[in-house]
Amino acid sequence: MNSFHTIKWLDGGVVSMIDQRVLPHEIRYNEYTDPVAVAGAIKDMVIRGAPAIGAAAAFGLALVPWHDKTGNLDQVFEQLGKAAQVLRESRPTAVNLFWAIERMMALVEGKDKYATVKELKELLLQEAIMVAEEDVEINKSIARNAQALIPDNAVIFHHCNTGSLATVDYGTALGTIRFAHEQGKKIFVFVDETRPRLQGGRLTAWELQQYGVPFKVVADSTSGHYMRTQKVDLCVVGTDRTAANGDVANKIGTYNLAVVAHENKVPFYVAVPKSTIDMNTPSGDLIKIEERPAKEVTHVGTWQITPDGTQVGNPAFDVTPAKYVSALITEDGIVYPPYEENLAKLFQVSAGD
Ligand code: MRU
Repeated sequence: MNSFHTIKWLDGGVVSMIDQRVLPHEIRYNEYTDPVAVAGAIKDMVIRGAPAIGAAAAFGLALVPWHDKTGNLDQVFEQLGKAAQVLRESRPTAVNLFWAIERMMALVEGKDKYATVKELKELLLQEAIMVAEEDVEINKSIARNAQALIPDNAVIFHHCNTGSLATVDYGTALGTIRFAHEQGKKIFVFVDETRPRLQGGRLTAWELQQYGVPFKVVADSTSGHYMRTQKVDLCVVGTDRTAANGDVANKIGTYNLAVVAHENKVPFYVAVPKSTIDMNTPSGDLIKIEERPAKEVTHVGTWQITPDGTQVGNPAFDVTPAKYVSALITEDGIVYPPYEENLAKLFQVSAGD
């Protein structure tokens, strides 16, 4: 159990989130009762990480009937449509956001089935809680499945934050590391600091410290040096959207890490819940990459590090071509290349379950 929660529904229709912008120096929980404010929290990265923002969107939609004052179903449906749109516009790359919104809004279709706002309110909340609870179970399954790929005494490179903070709990890639450690394996982690938002240096380091996993924070540009000069057994990262051909969109810098891993014959694994695999997107080239504000690059905290007027490029994600991905670790098992074929099989099998 963590000593913190990433996101939680509180009695009375309140969504509580730990404010990831101020970690690790301050533990602050923000409370939300309005879906537009939840969308703002996603955009400003109070909450971040693909599965976590999916859960935030689901709880954000559940807030609509909770705080309705009209008692009129038609009006609530209209408000839900508007809230879904605002949430969709909060961040473009992580498919979990859209997946969770569509899952929630599917309940709103066929609106004749509800007699009262109260019925709708209960159903939406139940669904949002299910999205959150399933996420934790899925992460634990991913972690279990990953153990076949993580030897004892493994030295692992990790990028961004993919732990409890990036999910509802436990994490995807970081969950595989945490589980290995909990199983008694001796693990050492190189934590990419992850410029410019420093999810590695601030968040992954904070989590690993709590789990007692030995680690070292390193600048993103060090991976080549370490892989060429020291024993590194594997890389494991998360993803915001994986295309049907196995191309992986993830935090900016992931592609560099994958190429360096390939050059040094270090296996490169991606921990991915099936909700992050977008079978409607055939290739990574079609994934929209979020461009974030220049200030994330020109400043570290409040300190400006570049000359006034400096031009900045700040893509939040990149795409790692499938050829660099040694395996995708899902809750239903490990998927190896050829991904186009094997991901199609993975989803066919689930559809036939
Ligand atoms: O911009 P962020 O911090 O939301 O980016 C997060 C990542 O890139 C993670 O690696 C990804 O969401 C997978 S987390 C389980």
